[in-house]
Amino acid sequence: MALRITVIGTGYLGATHAAAMAELGFEVLGLDVVPEKIETLARGEVPMYEPGLEELLRKHVAGIEGSTGRLRFTTSWEEVGEFGDVHFVCVNTPQKHGEYACDMSYVDSAFTSLAAHLRRPALVVGKSTVPVGSAGRLAKLLTELAPAGKDVELAWNPEFLREGFAVQDTLHPDRIVVGVEGERGEKLLREVYATPVGEGTPFVVADYPTAELVKTAANSFLATKISFINAMAEVCEAADGDVVKLAEAIGHDDRIGKKFLRAGVGFGGGCLPKDIRAFMARAGELGADQALTFLREVDSINMRRRSHMVELAREAVGGGFLGRRVAVLGATFKPDSDDVRDSPALNVAGQIHLQGGQVTVHDPKGMENARRLFPTLAYADSALEACRGAHVVLHLTEWGEYRQLDPSVVGAVVAERHVIDGRNALDAERWRSEGWTFRALGRPKA
Ligand code: UDX
Repeated sequence: MALRITVIGTGYLGATHAAAMAELGFEVLGLDVVPEKIETLARGEVPMYEPGLEELLRKHVAGIEGSTGRLRFTTSWEEVGEFGDVHFVCVNTPQKHGEYACDMSYVDSAFTSLAAHLRRPALVVGKSTVPVGSAGRLAKLLTELAPAGKDVELAWNPEFLREGFAVQDTLHPDRIVVGVEGERGEKLLREVYATPVGEGTPFVVADYPTAELVKTAANSFLATKISFINAMAEVCEAADGDVVKLAEAIGHDDRIGKKFLRAGVGFGGGCLPKDIRAFMARAGELGADQALTFLREVDSINMRRRSHMVELAREAVGGGFLGRRVAVLGATFKPDSDDVRDSPALNVAGQIHLQGGQVTVHDPKGMENARRLFPTLAYADSALEACRGAHVVLHLTEWGEYRQLDPSVVGAVVAERHVIDGRNALDAERWRSEGWTFRALGRPKA
C-alpha cells in the first residue's frame, strides 16, 4: 500500500510541502493548530502570495471539483497519529524576542503532541530549521513519549525552498538531504522522494547533526556572499568604482559564480537574517567563537547597508528629514513576494520616519502586510502617487514595474529630482538624462 503522509504545521513551508506530496501521488493529511488556517486551505485558498501554490492545492484538495482528493486538512492530532506512516514536521522556528537564538517552542510542542498519538510504527521527519543538536534530543523524546516506543523513528530533512519559487523548489529540489540514525528512515524517505531522485536530484544521507548543519551552513553561505559583495560596494563607493561591473567580472569565474552577488540594501526576509543569528547563538554555545565572530560581521555589514541608505537619503534632501517628503518604492524583502518580514525597505522607511521624514510607501503586493507592521507610515496605491511631492525617491525592492517607470513622468510629480537606487536595478543613464541626480549603492556618483 502507498505511504500515507501527514504534514504538521501548514504555514509557508508546510502548505507547499503538503501540496507537493499530493502531487507526487501520496495521500496527505495536513494539520495545523490554528483552525482558520485549516479552513482557508481546505477551501483551496492560500493565505500568502506564492505563484503556482493555489493551483497545486486546488488540484488535490478533497471536495474541490475535479481535484484528485488526495489532500485533506485537520486540527486533530489523533487523526494524524492514526493516518500517517510518515509525519513531516514543518512548524516555524522564529527568532526569540530580544535574543539571537531561535524559539523552539513550536517544534517542541508539535513533537510532544504528535508523540502522544503514535500508536503504530511511523517515521517522523523534521523539516524545520533548528539549532544543531535538536534532532538527537527530539529522537529521545519520541521514543519516551510515543506509545509505539522504539517503532517510531526520526529523520531530519532540511528544506531549501525560496519564496516565489516554493512549488518549483519543492518538486524539483537541487538536492535532498536526510539525517538518519536507523535504516528505516533512509528507506522510507527514498520511497517518498523516488520521483525527484529518479529525475536526477542528488540524495545525500548524513547523520543528524550534519543534516541540521547543512541548512544553516547553506543559508550562512548565501548571506556571506551578499555581505561580501556589499562590503565591496562600500569600497567601490569610496574609490569611485562600480560594484555591478565588479560582480559581473568576478562572477565569470565558475568557482565564484554570478548568483547572489547583487549589491544593495542587503538581505532580509523570514529566513536568512534569523537563521544566521540562530547559528551565531548556537556557535557561541558550542564554543565555536571564530564562527560566531565571522557571522556577526556578515550580519553587521548587512545591517549597515540600511543605515547607509538612510544617510544617502538624508544627504539628498539637504542634511535633515524634517519637512522633507520621501517616496519609498518597495516594502517586501524581495520582489514577487508579499512578505515584509525583516524587510530592508521597511526598515529604511521606518528609520527615516523616526527621524522626522514624511515617508510614503508603495509596493505591488506587500501593502497589506506592511500596513499591519508599520501602521504609522503613509501608503500610496501607485508608485507615481508615492512619488508625488517627494524630495527624494528611494528604490528599495526591485519589482519589475519600477524598472518600467518613466523618469520624465515621475519627474513631473516630484518636488525635487533625486533618486537613490538601493537595488542597482534602475537604468542610471535614463534617469540622469531626464535631469535626475541618480545615486546607487556601490556605484560612481555621476
Ligand atoms: C532563502 C534561501 O535562498 C533559501 O534557500 C532558504 O530555504 C530560505 O532563505 P528566501 O528568503 O526566499 O530564501 O530569499 P532569497 O531569494 O534567498 O533572498 C533573500 C534576501 O537576499 C532578499 O532580501 C534579497 O533581496 C537579498 N539578496 C539576494 C540580495 O540582496 N542580493 C542577492 O544577490 C541575492
